[in-house]
Amino acid sequence: MQDPKRYTITAALPYTNGPVHIGHLAGVYVPADIYARYLRLNDKEVAFVCGSDEHGVPITLKAKAEGVSPQAVVDKYHEIIKSSFKEFGITFDNYSRTSAPIHHETASDFFKDLYEHGKFIEETSAQLYDEDAKQFLADRFIVGTCPKCGFEESYGDQCENCGTSHNAQDLINPKSVITGNVPSLKETKHWYLPLNEYENWLSEWILKGHKKDWKANVLGQVKSWVDDGLKPRAVTRDLDWGIPVPVKGAEGKVLYVWFDAPIGYISSTKEWAKRTGKDWEPFWKDQDTSLIHFIGKDNIVFHCIIFPAMLKAQGSYILPENVPANEFLNLEGNKISTSKNWAVWLHEYLVDFPEKQDVLRYVLTANAPETKDNDFTWKDFQARNNNELVAIFGNFINRVLVLTNKYYEGVIPEAKTFTDIDLQTLDLMSKYPDVISSSIKRYRFREALSELMNLARLGNKYLADEEPWKQIKTDPERVKTIMFVALQIASALAVLSEPFLPFTSGRLKAMLNMDDLKTVKWSVVSTEKMLLPSQHQIEKAELLFSKIEDAEIQLQIDKLEATKASNIEVKIEPQKETINFEDFTKLDIRIGTILEAKKIPKTKKLLKLKVDVGIDTRTIVSGIAESFDPKDIIGQKVSVLVNLAPRKLRGVESQGMILMSDTADGKLSFIEPDGDTVGNGERVS
Ligand code: 2FM
Ligand code: ZN
Repeated sequence: MQDPKRYTITAALPYTNGPVHIGHLAGVYVPADIYARYLRLNDKEVAFVCGSDEHGVPITLKAKAEGVSPQAVVDKYHEIIKSSFKEFGITFDNYSRTSAPIHHETASDFFKDLYEHGKFIEETSAQLYDEDAKQFLADRFIVGTCPKCGFEESYGDQCENCGTSHNAQDLINPKSVITGNVPSLKETKHWYLPLNEYENWLSEWILKGHKKDWKANVLGQVKSWVDDGLKPRAVTRDLDWGIPVPVKGAEGKVLYVWFDAPIGYISSTKEWAKRTGKDWEPFWKDQDTSLIHFIGKDNIVFHCIIFPAMLKAQGSYILPENVPANEFLNLEGNKISTSKNWAVWLHEYLVDFPEKQDVLRYVLTANAPETKDNDFTWKDFQARNNNELVAIFGNFINRVLVLTNKYYEGVIPEAKTFTDIDLQTLDLMSKYPDVISSSIKRYRFREALSELMNLARLGNKYLADEEPWKQIKTDPERVKTIMFVALQIASALAVLSEPFLPFTSGRLKAMLNMDDLKTVKWSVVSTEKMLLPSQHQIEKAELLFSKIEDAEIQLQIDKLEATKASNIEVKIEPQKETINFEDFTKLDIRIGTILEAKKIPKTKKLLKLKVDVGIDTRTIVSGIAESFDPKDIIGQKVSVLVNLAPRKLRGVESQGMILMSDTADGKLSFIEPDGDTVGNGERVS
């Protein structure tokens, strides 16, 4: 859409079962906020909405784990999440919650509307059921093998590994998350949205209509689902936490969380409109509104297939103009995981790095997972702060402000004559709003940010070439013009950095006393090259960024190491089934010494060992090749189960088993006697 009248920008409603972390910020909320701020700076009418996703199985599971009610869980995390967003400068026009009455009413009415217009299929069928928990198993209450990619921990409604969305009955070897039981089948009635009926329309609308401007990762996923064929999707569940299904015969059933959550965007807009005296409807129903959904890649199917099908079925809503989904951000090489506490939590970050919100916003944007998964490392965080924010942006601003205060007591000097370099520099500066705009409009926020830094580089180069600190002795008149030009670049940075580094932009505008000037908007930088007039008084220089020391980074790395260690501890497997003493005495374990060790060709793990076990010297095949080099284990004392029935492995008969300890992260160690006095053949009992 060329130049829409207004924008409705949505950011995925976070599940309220834990705080938010850097992955959330990088994937969804920072890009969405950059976009919204940019539009507002360009005088566009914007509704930027979000809220807490408070229904669904993740909440119920968390409540069970903490021994509290689901309401207590959402009340606690709603506040934590809301305040994290605020602290990081995410400028939602409204942050709602799906437990709010306005949302219950909106979602309920939406369902009723589709129901009354015959848009659902009503069907009774056998569904997975946990006899012990007395509960149907849907969504995250059930795990099993994904029918598409073979991932063994896929959820009932979606596989986190390949992103496929499926029905719980499609899982292979399903298991109840509540009891571990293999589920039985029990009849129940549900309402289905017949996605198959929307297949042609969807492929026409997305795959043909948006080929050029949608991201390749998004189109790729949509195409693959459409190619696989869409099936009717149940939009109701047999659960006790959620929005009651508002029709007769549906007692005890609730709306599927993915049916109600996206409607949360609409109810959040309504809440905002009510609060501000606006009309919400044009933001969702006027064709001249551009609707943009910011999400992570695991949400693509819901925003590109299911929600659009719901909107289309209802008939009076607009459809998303774009869904610029991001890939995932990893942390120090591993997938961010709430349950394993492998994350940098926003509320904890602010304790360790108070007032460094912009540093995190910067690093997460510069390294955003826009086209592929990316990795956040603390070393990179430190390097980007020290070498880019401090050394480039901060350094330029500091020089300009310090020199202006030193030479002119903070009063912007008169520019007398501009040289070609001055004019060229001002001209280059005036192109940045368009250059950055072009990247933002294409959702390329990394590129946009790197252009902003190029503007700071332009300023640094200009000062380094013109050397006002030298010329002040020989040609003080010339220095007035140099400082005048440099101040214009500083003011352009103050304006153009706002979407990316809002706190920095605010401090810089305050230092430059820009609040008193005419409303500073994006385009002013190009239309009025001289944003700061002569005689304008600026304030004293304050450092915008400060160096982050190695010790601060080490602290964060140590924190993650400790998490890793505690994850390994908790992974210790439970005790096996009890055996009696007679069973134990049947085991004949002896001390032995490895005499020879050779890799078995064409295997990854197997070593063929010759082991002296006191009674004899025998061949043992052991799966330890990935942990040990054969030459390093000659002479190694080991414990051997010698009376294990022989068996052939890759054509070699193994006559016993070497006992090893195996840590959760896969590290193997030999069980060896303490000291050299224990001889081969001695019993372990
Ligand atoms: O993946 C999630 O965290 C979901 N709670 C996102 C919901 S987005 C929407 F549609 F509300
Ligand atoms: Zn899968």
